[in-house]
Amino acid sequence: MLLSLSSCIHKDNKELSIIPKPQETEFNKGVFNAKGTIAIASEWDDVEINRVINLFSKKIFNVIKTKNILKSDPYDGPKIVVNKNSDKNFGDEEYNITIDQKHILIETKGARGLFYAFQTILQMLPAQIYAASQTDEISFSLPCVTINDKPASKWRGFMLDVSRHFFPKEFILKTLDYMAMHKLNVFHWHLTDDQGWRIEIKKYPKLTEIGAWRADRENEPWSDHREPQRPGEKATYGGYYTQNDISEIVEYAKDRFITIVPEIEMPGHCSAALAAYPQFSCTGQSITVPTGSIWQDRKVYCAGNDSTFIFLTDILSEVIKMFPGQYIHIGGDEAKHDAWEKCSKCQKRMADENLKNVEELQSYFIKRIEKFINSKNRKLIGWDEIIAGGLSPNATVMSWRGLEGGIIAARQGHDVVFSPTEYCYFDFYQGDPGYEPPANTKMLPIKKVYSFDPSLKDSLNSNERKHILGVQANLWTEYVPTAKHAEYMMFPRMAALSEIAWTSQSQRNWRHFSKRLEKQFERYNALGINYAKSAYNVRANYKVDRKQHNIIVSLENEIVNSNIRYTLDGSKPDSNSNLYKAPFHVSKVLTIKSAAFKNGRIVSPVINLDVLANKATGLPVKVQYLYDKRYPSAKEYALTEGIRGTINYREGSWQGYFGVDFDGTIDLLKGQEVSKVTVSFLQAVSAGIFFPEKISIWLSNDNKDFKQVSQIDVDVPDSDENTTIKIFTNPFKKQNARYIKVVAKNIGKCPKGHVYEGVNAFMFIDEIMVE
Ligand code: ACM
Ligand code: ZN
Repeated sequence: MLLSLSSCIHKDNKELSIIPKPQETEFNKGVFNAKGTIAIASEWDDVEINRVINLFSKKIFNVIKTKNILKSDPYDGPKIVVNKNSDKNFGDEEYNITIDQKHILIETKGARGLFYAFQTILQMLPAQIYAASQTDEISFSLPCVTINDKPASKWRGFMLDVSRHFFPKEFILKTLDYMAMHKLNVFHWHLTDDQGWRIEIKKYPKLTEIGAWRADRENEPWSDHREPQRPGEKATYGGYYTQNDISEIVEYAKDRFITIVPEIEMPGHCSAALAAYPQFSCTGQSITVPTGSIWQDRKVYCAGNDSTFIFLTDILSEVIKMFPGQYIHIGGDEAKHDAWEKCSKCQKRMADENLKNVEELQSYFIKRIEKFINSKNRKLIGWDEIIAGGLSPNATVMSWRGLEGGIIAARQGHDVVFSPTEYCYFDFYQGDPGYEPPANTKMLPIKKVYSFDPSLKDSLNSNERKHILGVQANLWTEYVPTAKHAEYMMFPRMAALSEIAWTSQSQRNWRHFSKRLEKQFERYNALGINYAKSAYNVRANYKVDRKQHNIIVSLENEIVNSNIRYTLDGSKPDSNSNLYKAPFHVSKVLTIKSAAFKNGRIVSPVINLDVLANKATGLPVKVQYLYDKRYPSAKEYALTEGIRGTINYREGSWQGYFGVDFDGTIDLLKGQEVSKVTVSFLQAVSAGIFFPEKISIWLSNDNKDFKQVSQIDVDVPDSDENTTIKIFTNPFKKQNARYIKVVAKNIGKCPKGHVYEGVNAFMFIDEIMVE
């Protein structure tokens, strides 16, 4: 079978389909044809080089035969020549590839650069080579090109949380292969957390005997795992890695030029450890490994007890022996300090060490651990909370709560890895939650990942930027119960991560990337990866037209080489439905059904897009009592803009009323037939946001005399802890009116027993629709 070179080039923009995109590619005339055995001729006979060559040969041996020779050996057939670059400015990870009609010439400093050169060459070959079972020999052609490539970032990381859910060793090895394919080089292994301790520590066997197992609640979504292990119930969900497993994994990673950074969480996120050894908490109280989220009741190690530090440094000693890499991650995030406030030992420590508050006690804790880690010639890295109360002298900061932590640390001369939630949290949704499996609350489509520039040129000067080690994405696994599902969350976003980490910002372009991504999908198919196709899903943007009082709808998806088709009549779109070309106006309530198509075939689910255009659209709402200015929709038109707020009430279009009623009037500009007014509210009891007591609808023709036409009693209990949106309506007899008034009665104060008892209650309202 002869596969043409179109398998790796896009003709329109003359770009190789390689992810991450190489820094420089130049096309020359001609092609390299490979038939029969390809010789791999190395300039130097070196164990590491030979190992990398063999790894490459093994990858392709089902379809392409290779033989290893020395450069000086005679061979007439097609040849890959590995040359040594001894320029001292040539980087360890850098490589050049020059393909002419007879040779593929690689230039590298050593094995690491060669490994990346081979990853690039693999992507120039037909995608089938990634399939393990492919057995037909293939011939192939490559375009004559010159590639000069090296990474923009030193730290190209991916983190996997194996505590919330456990993933077997085989999946960890697979993940390392996937990372290598994407030229990522740091695997941050989140080995310990509240819901499971996953690493064998010989000195403290109960860490895994007890700490690695929790009561099984896998039949419920994570958000419902509230009930702790029952008396008499066995802890059966879990697992851990033995020290033998770990040494195998470390070796496998090393062969792929990946450093593993183990994370041992402290002083918080340690319930599993305290379930095994309760004596290291402030109270010594015995607990079970939590079955799920324990945000209100999260535990912390006692910082006043010297034996805590002996315990932790013993653990770290074993960890350091297992992991040869420079960095040890000690967590440091989200520690709750109230136990420290109440503990006499912690209070004594604060007095003895002259610490003003618990933040300084946390800083003392981390500094003491850092001293130990440094004494073993290793470096401490921690989440950005380690800045509070004073940063340890040599610590590296992983900036996750936005960019600020990293910026502060870099300005103080500390190294930084950027991993901000907004761009790097792969536990977030990659598409409309209505069409995705349950995930963490926010949205992170692949295009958003791709838009992150970890070089932070706008925020830091060139000296400060020297402290930026790179970028990392994190997969927290509360909502990720299986390896297959982990793949779904990792891919294809890992492709975007790889490019923001490797390829300089000036070389990046979403349109081109999205085309290369479809080639990457073919490789994922060959590998059997369960990747998300959410980037094909159609989204709508709604813009209110305040002159015409209707809604301008635009449709988009992320993959540029696909067509969007849609219907307005409720039917399922097919390859003959309207092709979306430009934004269009809608002036009534309807549902657009839309999907992406490629070559006449549907490639996404049919997405229902509700348009809320109605008689009130684009008209101002005059309110009697003012909305609270703290929420983004504190404006006159927020309730008639055709967008209904989502569960994520901080970012949504909700208007908040603090302790006061909503009393709003809309002037329809002329008398019109109306029979239905719809209004939505949001309730989030734990945040002090409640549904109204009751809602009434009033009509008038002169804006003076209002007649009540509808009343809606609200009978949702305020004991429901879930954030809920409810759309309220109670149609009335059709009649003529120009002024529409909606009155919603606030419950006033947060009720008895609520954390904010007696404080003003919030009432959140959005879209008012008049039909
Ligand atoms: C984190 O997400 N708590 C680091
Ligand atoms: Zn204590």
